[in-house]
Order: sequence, then structure tokens, then C-alpha cells
Amino acid sequence: MSPVLPPTTHDRRNFQRSLLSWYDLYRRDLPWRVSRDPYRVWLSEIMLQQTRVTAVIAHYHEFLRRFPTIEKLAAAREASVLAAWSGLGYYRRARMLHAAAKAVVRDHAGKFPSATGALLALPGIGRYTSAAIASIAFDQPVAVVDGNVERVLHRMSGRRLGGEELWTAANDLLDAKRPGDFNQAMMELGATVCKPRAPSCLTCPVIALCATCGELTATSKPVPQKKREINYALNCRNGEVLLVQRARDASLMPGMWELPEGGMSSASQPQMTLRHSITVTDYKVRVWCCVAPLPVVGKWIPVGRLKQVALTGLARKILLAADII
Ligand code: ADE
Repeated sequence: MSPVLPPTTHDRRNFQRSLLSWYDLYRRDLPWRVSRDPYRVWLSEIMLQQTRVTAVIAHYHEFLRRFPTIEKLAAAREASVLAAWSGLGYYRRARMLHAAAKAVVRDHAGKFPSATGALLALPGIGRYTSAAIASIAFDQPVAVVDGNVERVLHRMSGRRLGGEELWTAANDLLDAKRPGDFNQAMMELGATVCKPRAPSCLTCPVIALCATCGELTATSKPVPQKKREINYALNCRNGEVLLVQRARDASLMPGMWELPEGGMSSASQPQMTLRHSITVTDYKVRVWCCVAPLPVVGKWIPVGRLKQVALTGLARKILLAADII
């Protein structure tokens, strides 16, 4: 397959130099960029999937404080791992992370494998994550393709590349001397300059090599959000809160803890109202303070223990807003 962008070796070299000089000067100061320890690189890449950088920063430090090494993570109880993940959403990632940590300790003596093939065999590690770990932590010349890289490649080439073409284009462009930085620079360019709706072409370091200069805007329309209302009961007594556990076979957040639904009263006002979004649904959440226990099968959890409980993101948000955690 012939290279799709930029067509000559000279132009590709220019692209790499301009992009990497820009990255060296302007990259965001992110906590996972201070270390190339594969455990930390892996953790950040899993956390960053479908999650905003600001939310990840808040959890990244706390997660590493609780599980500073892969051995500590492998030895932890699943509930503790889920508790540390609480608020990041997509909890399957945390379960896979835990399973992969156990596999690295059991099958690789706790040392992360560096080859993409061995990385791909670990739970929760796909083509993107294996390439990110191999290039960032081990300097292997493999390109990554995520949503940001895909958009940069579309705009640079002026073509909608599909499937394997994208990976080939990314690998053709890769700077094999600094593959980890190059991959991060491509993602950074997509996240901060070559943005989906309003690309900042005036500050783009590679505009001279771009086929579209921002004309090729995103075609996908934002998915319309559904609106829902939901009521929760906040039941406190003697320093304990009443929580219920979601079914172990629930399709969303199985086994995690939340406030019981209900508690509304026509005579009074809710203690608080807040907004919460999960994928395509925007929830208006009302929280009612209840004095009498509700007829639910729940568990009274001491406030001091809540940090170790695998709370759903919404339960955590409510308990934080109510100044309970
Ligand atoms: N998105 C996911 N991982 C990233 C990284 N390491 N740098 C920039 N953006 C990213």
C-alpha cells in the first residue's frame, strides 16, 4: 500500500520534526508523563479510555497511592479495586485491569511484557493499548490509532481512511526514534488543536502539510441525550448510611453499591437536586432525606468505611455533595 500522507520521505521527516518540537514545547503537564514505568503507563491508558483527562488525574494519584505496584494491585480484593475506580465509570475496565495484574504477576513474574503480542494476550489490552504501552514504556516502533489520531489523519490526508488503512498511515508517519513521544504528540494534537468541531489551525505545527486545513470537519452529529428523572433516599443514622448492592448479574455496574431508589415525599422538598450523565442519558437526580428506614434489603455502612466500598459514580457524587465523604 502506498503511503497516504505526506507522500515523500522529506515531507514525513518535516512532519515528525515539527510535531515533536511542538510537543516538546507545548505538551500538557500530565502526571503519567513523568514516568515510563509500564505499570503507570498502562494504568493511565486504561483510565483515559472514554474518560476526560481531568477526571483521570483525580483518580490516577489516589489509585497509585492505594496500589503502588502491580503486585499490590494483583493481591487486592476486587471490591477495593472497584472502590478506587469509583467515579470513573465503565467498571469493566477495572475488573480487566485487576485480572491483567494477576496474569502479569502469575505468568511474567510481575514484569510487564514489552512485545505487543504478549501484551495483547492480557485481559483488557487491545491493539491500541498494546501499541501505547509498547511505544511509550518500551520505545517499540508501533503507532497508535485512537479517535484523536484518526481525525488528524483524516484531515491531514483529506481522505476518510478506514480500518487497516488508518493503522498503515499511522505507522508510515511514525518517528521510529521517538515512537512514544510521537504517538502522544499525535493524540495531543487531536485533543488540543485538531479538535472535532473547531480546529485551531492557526496554531497547528503541521498546517503546511495538511490537505484540508480544518475543512474536513466531523461528520458524526452528537448523539441526542435522553432525559430521565430519578429519586434516591439518603438514610443516615448513628454515623451510618443505608446502601443497596446492585445485582451481581446487572449489565451495568454489577455488584456496586448505591443509595436506595425512592424516598420522595409530596410534603417536603428534596435535600438536593443534581445532574448526572451516563452515556446517552442525562439524569435529573433528586435526593430525599429519610428518617424512617425504607423497606429495602440494604446494608448500613459506617461513614468511615465508605472509601473502601465500590460505590457507583452517582452514589459517590451524592455522598460528596451531602458532605458525607
Ligand atoms: N490519550 C490517551 N493516552 C494519551 C496520551 N498518553 N497522551 C495524550 N493523549 C492520550
